[in-house]
Amino acid sequence: MLIAGNWKMYKTASETEAFCVALRERLAGFDGVDVAVCPPFTSLAAAVGSLAGTDIAVGAQNVHWESEGAFTGEVSAPMLRELGVYGAIVGHSERRQLFGDTDEDVARRTRAALDAGLSVIACVGETEAERESGETEAVLRRQVSVLEPHENLVIAYEPVWAIGTGKTATAPICQIAHGFIHTLIDVPVIYGGSVKPENAAELLGLANVEGALVGGASLDVESFAAICEAGAAV
Ligand code: PGA
Repeated sequence: MLIAGNWKMYKTASETEAFCVALRERLAGFDGVDVAVCPPFTSLAAAVGSLAGTDIAVGAQNVHWESEGAFTGEVSAPMLRELGVYGAIVGHSERRQLFGDTDEDVARRTRAALDAGLSVIACVGETEAERESGETEAVLRRQVSVLEPHENLVIAYEPVWAIGTGKTATAPICQIAHGFIHTLIDVPVIYGGSVKPENAAELLGLANVEGALVGGASLDVESFAAICEAGAAV
């Protein structure tokens, strides 16, 4: 079971250090789930430094497919590896919707990151309009079909309508989507979309939910730790 925090564009380096020092104290001696935090690029070094010697991993929120080159504003897998970063989120719906990442971009980012030795959390999920028009499975099939199974690949099912909205997928919706993704690719599938301490036990207790990608609730030490504990208890 993997509980990963997607911090999005929150926390400066000094805020990251304070958070990570508090998290390592709060989770001292804790095991039972894999825990990762994914701060902004500028806070990665602070997170790696503050979490050194713990089992809490540090991931990035994106990664480019080339190892270097004329790609203004991008960061490569070898650059992340040298910092001590373990992996990266790829294809988050905010990248797809706001920054134009296509399925092919997601595939290239994923492949390059895995080849460079990073772990990848590749995000997939349908919008509300796609769900309402019965396209959920077609969208998931299209997004997953560009990915290949790999021992360091995890898929995050994140229905776009559940991200940051307080609307969580119900247990049946979650189970059907996870079951469908499992028919497409043989890698663990974690859930993301308004995961909170209050709903974590129910969601993480579902048979084919192998962890959570947590946005808003990962920004607070206590609520993130509570979700990790809920994962360890199932
Ligand atoms: P949320 O975000 O938990 O704030 O809904 C999840 C995500 O975007 O990964």
